[in-house]
Amino acid sequence: MKLEIDQNRLLTELETLATFSDAEPPAVTRVVFTPIDLKAREWLIARCEEAGLTVRQDAVGNIFARWSGADPGAPAVGTGSHIDAIPNAGKYDGVVGVLGGLEALRALRRSGFRPKNSLELLVFATEEPTRFGVGCLGSRLLSGTLSAEAAGRLTDHDGESVEKVRRIAGLKGNLQDVKLPADYYKAFVELHIEQGPNLERSQKPLGIVTRIAAPASLHISVEGAGGHAGGVLMPDRRDALCAAAELILAIESAARSSGAVDSVATVGVCDVFPGAVNSIPSRVQLTVDLRDTELARRNSVMQAIESAIRTLSEKRHVAIHPEWLNADAPADCAPEVRAALSDSCRTQGFQFLEMVSRAYHDSLFISRIAPTGMLFIPCRDGYSHRPDEYASPEDIARGTLVLAAALARLSS
Ligand code: GLV
Ligand code: MN
Ligand code: MN
Repeated sequence: MKLEIDQNRLLTELETLATFSDAEPPAVTRVVFTPIDLKAREWLIARCEEAGLTVRQDAVGNIFARWSGADPGAPAVGTGSHIDAIPNAGKYDGVVGVLGGLEALRALRRSGFRPKNSLELLVFATEEPTRFGVGCLGSRLLSGTLSAEAAGRLTDHDGESVEKVRRIAGLKGNLQDVKLPADYYKAFVELHIEQGPNLERSQKPLGIVTRIAAPASLHISVEGAGGHAGGVLMPDRRDALCAAAELILAIESAARSSGAVDSVATVGVCDVFPGAVNSIPSRVQLTVDLRDTELARRNSVMQAIESAIRTLSEKRHVAIHPEWLNADAPADCAPEVRAALSDSCRTQGFQFLEMVSRAYHDSLFISRIAPTGMLFIPCRDGYSHRPDEYASPEDIARGTLVLAAALARLSS
């Protein structure tokens, strides 16, 4: 079997997909089920059909593109990632695993390979939490980690529910039916950019993920008292933004004082009401994104944040309402998938680094229902979730080649 990656075609497709964006290049903004995202999904489905794959979509918009194996009743071997992009993002996050996965299947076909287990490209719906507040909605439903009722009730910024938005997007069926049967996948492999600097620093071209960090997300509402910026004297104030500012610093120090580099916390959203120059802020909404590779340590940072909330609420006479949206466990990657990836690297003569993923991925949830692994390629300076995110054509093609070889091993 001679595997050859069509690097030019893969890069052309990557550039084309980046044009489906609500931001000016080089930035990419592609929020799930917006008109531009729906166009991108249509374009992608056409590419899958052109490759001879049989395409179906489930009720939440996960796209499955299948190459039937010699034993079509046997569990499939899956690969894939996501194409939704946060506001002002780059063009590689998720997309490398989707278009790389597609090219891996095409390369296997060109080589004359015939899989025993079906091979399936899976494009996860709404990996990013931008629209509905919770990341990996598609894979949470596929794995049964989130109930159909809870998912359907999630709302976007305009108060529109997942249930309504997905129906307007033309998706049929019931969210209850998204969950996959336990033996659906024999194995799953996701190719992704690292989104951190470690591979580049190690000068190794590939990373094989051992463990995926545990994410938690918190929504905080701080309620103080508003009023005239000139009229209300300082001793009488219950300024919600000043309380939020102290809380943000307490959140930072909770993560820093865990004693581990793997503990990270980010306040990425701070909405101030009413947001007028001469009005004391009466209400502030914050979001907190918290991650760690160790569950107990992540949980103790959660407790430190809750304790800071109680202290600040008393000290500043404001009401603070925390709501945990998710608090997931980390996942270990499956030994058999890691072995398929490391054998493929060795056979092709590529060095690799065994490493943890500090970003979360749909693989975190797919690992609950199938042996799962991840292959990383470097991204320049570790940049991701920003317009200057970059992975070289050679690294993308190398990752795709190793992915294809691993898929061949797992589906033989
Ligand atoms: C995924 O996009 C993440 O935030 O880790
Ligand atoms: Mn992302
Ligand atoms: Mn991603």
